[in-house]
Amino acid sequence: MNVQFDFSGRHAVVFGGTTGINLGIAQAFARAGARVTVASRKQANVDAAVATLGDGALGLVADVRDEASVASALAQAAATHGPIDVLVSGAAGNFLAEVNGMSSNAFKVVVDIDLIGSFHVARQAYAHLRKPGASIIFITAPQAVVAMPHQAHVGAAKAGVDQFARVLALEWGPAGVRVNAISPGPIQGTEGMQRLAPQIQDGDATLRAIVPLGRMGTTQDIAHLAMFLGSDAASYVSGAVIACDGGAQGMLTPMISGAIAAQAPAR
Ligand code: COA
Ligand code: NAP
Repeated sequence: MNVQFDFSGRHAVVFGGTTGINLGIAQAFARAGARVTVASRKQANVDAAVATLGDGALGLVADVRDEASVASALAQAAATHGPIDVLVSGAAGNFLAEVNGMSSNAFKVVVDIDLIGSFHVARQAYAHLRKPGASIIFITAPQAVVAMPHQAHVGAAKAGVDQFARVLALEWGPAGVRVNAISPGPIQGTEGMQRLAPQIQDGDATLRAIVPLGRMGTTQDIAHLAMFLGSDAASYVSGAVIACDGGAQGMLTPMISGAIAAQAPAR
């Protein structure tokens, strides 16, 4: 598919950008000419990601739960590539666990990564954004709006991300900063799908019943939306949480229920 954007001279920073959907976004911005910075916890992931991003890409180790580590990464990114034009906050953690099978720390670890991490990334990036014209994109999930079993931690965290994005759009809009969120549907070949519904494959009858467009999404589908949101074509789009899910409208519960049934004995 030939979708063209030009991000020459612009700087895109992707937190959690070393694997999966977020790496796909970073690669798309790099192909469109942006100077790209990616950051995540594991050096091996950072190195592997940077090797796919072309000359000049910057890879940094940072844990979004640690505000000082986020601040340090952003300072290095700005010192290397200049002010930030597009900031993507996509780091996340997930596992299937019912509330009765989850410790307080298990609930908290996902809230810390997904929600508090998003706060750290946005709050610390503000001073480095090239405002006006800068754009922030959070990566949220359908669990934010649709109740899914064994996903209380993720639902609570991502619902917080959605509302955080909307409030930031109000507070930072007057400075010319746009803030949006992308809610991906089931994306092929990703860690998220492996953890939630590993039995689902393209062509599967359950998938076709759930997704009107009849297929899983690709990381490129999400990257195209991210590039639109980061571009001047979206200059009047802010405070939006946009699904990119083939029309599934978040109704992915049957997939997850299937995975739970496959894993756990019936009660
Ligand atoms: N069921 C119940 N509890 C679980 C669990 C599961 N499947 N997996 C982890 N936990 C609990 C742990 O037992 C621990 O709680 P405890 O201290 O009370 O024992 C808590 O969660 C934190 O686990 P820990 O392994 O110490 O966290 P971590 O910081 O090393 O890793 C995770 C964070 C658990 C989210 C890990 O899965 C991760 O790093 N994920 C990133 C990748 C990912 O999830 N990608 C998909 C994105 S959609
Ligand atoms: P993924 O490959 O596991 O991506 C998560 C990324 O976040 C990894 O690069 C990971 O790298 C990084 N990360 C995790 N914890 C971190 C932390 N504490 N600090 C910094 N970085 C951290 O998963 P994915 O499936 O592509 O999901 C990407 C995003 O899309 C997530 O926000 C997820 O909620 C959302 N999403 C996914 C789907 C799907 O179908 N996959 C559907 C809806 C929403 P390190 O391990 O190196 O830290």
